Amino acid sequence: SLPNKVPHLMTLADLTAPQIRKLVAHSHHLKRRSEPWLLPNIPGAKKKNLRLPPQSLFGKTIALLFSKRSTRTRLAAETSAELLGGKALFLGKEDIQLGVNESVRDSARVIGGMCQGIFARVGEHSEIEELAEHSPVPVLNALSSYWHPTQILADLLTLHENAHRFDKTKPAGVLSELPPLTVAYVGDSANVLHDMLVTYPRLGHKLRVASPPQYRAPEAVWKRVEELGCDKDIWWGEDPKEAVKGADVVVTDTWISMGQEAEKAERLQAFQGYQVTEQLCKEGGANPDWTFLHCLPRKPDEVDDEVFYGPRSLVFPEADNRKWTIMAVFESLFGRWSLDGPPGAK
Ligand code: CP
Ligand code: NVA
Repeated sequence: SLPNKVPHLMTLADLTAPQIRKLVAHSHHLKRRSEPWLLPNIPGAKKKNLRLPPQSLFGKTIALLFSKRSTRTRLAAETSAELLGGKALFLGKEDIQLGVNESVRDSARVIGGMCQGIFARVGEHSEIEELAEHSPVPVLNALSSYWHPTQILADLLTLHENAHRFDKTKPAGVLSELPPLTVAYVGDSANVLHDMLVTYPRLGHKLRVASPPQYRAPEAVWKRVEELGCDKDIWWGEDPKEAVKGADVVVTDTWISMGQEAEKAERLQAFQGYQVTEQLCKEGGANPDWTFLHCLPRKPDEVDDEVFYGPRSLVFPEADNRKWTIMAVFESLFGRWSLDGPPGAK
């Protein structure tokens, strides 16, 4: 039977902490389950492990409504839908009538009449809210001006898989609990940071943020942070050195998000001194073993090559993990796996 209320996912603020944990664990499970299928010749692969991943999207189509560029999110969606036996149908903004010849309301109804889910990347957050309001099928946010929920799931999976970096008693290469961490974010208050703000404190981690004063989270975002009680575990200032004090993890993102290209000169000026470097973290007193994350795509302004390509950096495993986390969200929103009920329930 159709749910009365369509379960959309706009930000991780829409999920409870146990649901977020469950998604991360399920992502890891899907990764372990799928790898032997994808790489059957890896040494030690056992025949009995060569099972197809769950075909929970069999016969289903997920519309990828992307009005902005994407490498990772699109690849993750297309490759994971295929593994689940379904199809991700890419519809760029030049391909469809939406926004030119047709209203969001009419397009949402038509796309939802033929597809079983929508994964949408938009400009203004209000665009995806409008889409969700009129869509008869679940809408998942693939990035908006406010939020980037699937990115933070990949970051969490990457941290949990690297728990041995933070707690030497944990084994490497498996999913482990994390000790309470101090996570520093240095740079622009944009979509990636905003989903960190509503997530990390609820999982027991502290956040320290440095941004120039004119680049702070919009009121609508901060309201969600406060509603969830996350604000009490967030320190926010202007000084990047102060932000990285005691940091176990340092995170940044581009200073010029998609659509802000006209502000490039002004932004490069405003963010002077915010580049993540070994020196910044040393002078600021980060944990000497600090680990680095970045959602990618990366520009050289916000982090130098030494950090980005160095041994602290988990940016490429983080990018790979976009696939398994998006696969888990696809299963829960569009497939036959429930975040709340027993396995297989929907
Ligand atoms: N991190 C991320 O969302 O990358 P893409 O823009 O390439 O999808
Ligand atoms: N803040 C960046 C994230 C890209 C994944 C942007 O919106 O362009």
